[in-house]
Amino acid sequence: MENRVLSGMRPTGALHLGHYHGVLKNWLTLQNEYDSYFFVADWHAFTTHYSDKIDLAGNVSEMVVDWLAAGINPNTSTIFVQSKVPEHAELHLLLSMTTPLSWLERVPSYKDQQEKLKTKDLGTYGFLGYPLLQSADILIYKAGLVPVGEDQVAHIELTREVARRFNYVYGREADFEEKAELAVTKMGKKQAKSYRSLRKSYQETGDLEALYKAQALLREQQNITLGDRERLLGYVEGVGRIILPEPESILTKASKMPGLDGQKMSKSYGNTISLRDTSEEIETKVKRMPTDPARVKLTDAGDPKKCPVWQLHKIYSDAQTCDWVQDGCTYAKMGCIECKQPIIDAIKEELSPMQERIAKYQSDPELIKQIIHEGSEKARGVAQETMAEVREAMGIVY
Ligand code: TRP
Ligand code: SF4
Repeated sequence: MENRVLSGMRPTGALHLGHYHGVLKNWLTLQNEYDSYFFVADWHAFTTHYSDKIDLAGNVSEMVVDWLAAGINPNTSTIFVQSKVPEHAELHLLLSMTTPLSWLERVPSYKDQQEKLKTKDLGTYGFLGYPLLQSADILIYKAGLVPVGEDQVAHIELTREVARRFNYVYGREADFEEKAELAVTKMGKKQAKSYRSLRKSYQETGDLEALYKAQALLREQQNITLGDRERLLGYVEGVGRIILPEPESILTKASKMPGLDGQKMSKSYGNTISLRDTSEEIETKVKRMPTDPARVKLTDAGDPKKCPVWQLHKIYSDAQTCDWVQDGCTYAKMGCIECKQPIIDAIKEELSPMQERIAKYQSDPELIKQIIHEGSEKARGVAQETMAEVREAMGIVY
């Protein structure tokens, strides 16, 4: 499904401005163009935090409230929770059968995270397998596009390899060629002729245009079964049936949102502004931000490039205000507190309507439960269809 987007977040609880500018705003654009699935990866929390007491229920609902308050629309996007679609676990198990250990061991985050989280024993089966669980999350919806940050791109690469191998192993029926040829005839004369010629040009000259045209042609076919479509998709490429299509990643640029100290905004650095911070908290946090250390006294000239406050101006301020900062800082015409005021105002203005919506959703926990329930039921329907095909391909039908 080239037009299906899927992405997930671990249930970290209430979100901060880094999530909003780095991830959610991107989701908001995507949800208007694609059939979007956004989910809370609650099982994933256990891959690293299996022995910590976390208030999962609280975290899940806070995070979903923040998604909604940011503008994720439950009427057009499917919002769900991973564990409410247990088929993810079934696909994870089945995919584990064909996934070489070495593929998982060489995923960079495997070693990186073990280094980073030294106090935890991450020599577990679940942690090694977590990118494969992520592959199952994606493949079960046949998602075409997965928006992720840089650190996750390797997981999408793995997902592609896992899908390719699955299709190769289970998409090769003994009588594949005959079945594919029979399916071609079911398309009708004219369409069959185009299909054959596109297939020929792709196979003989590697013409990608021809491949895409053939794929588009197959998508439009109304009179062939899903199984035949998968066969014909694979037949163009000279592989077996394509049961699990390979997704592409959409790289979300590194969070544009710097934290209060100029590093990337992240809970673990303690440099965040939460979407739920009150006006007073916002004010205190921004007023405490470090500035160019050269500006000890009001008369000391500064350099915005050396100041985290300037990073925030680049996000929140218009050209005129930016000029005012450059001038006032470089020629020591104003103090840092004065320079920070427009940022304080802009953040308050950005968060105020969101906080109103957060309050509204928080006062109606039943509504949140219902949104999660309905989204999960819808997702589950799609997941069950894929699992029926997967079981059929593997011969798990009795
Ligand atoms: N692993 C992702 C993270 O830590 C979360 C995630 C789980 C995810 N499954 C996914 C993201 C599927 C995209 C698609 O951020
Ligand atoms: Fe930073 Fe503004 Fe102070 Fe310059 S005037 S150091 S940009 S806070």
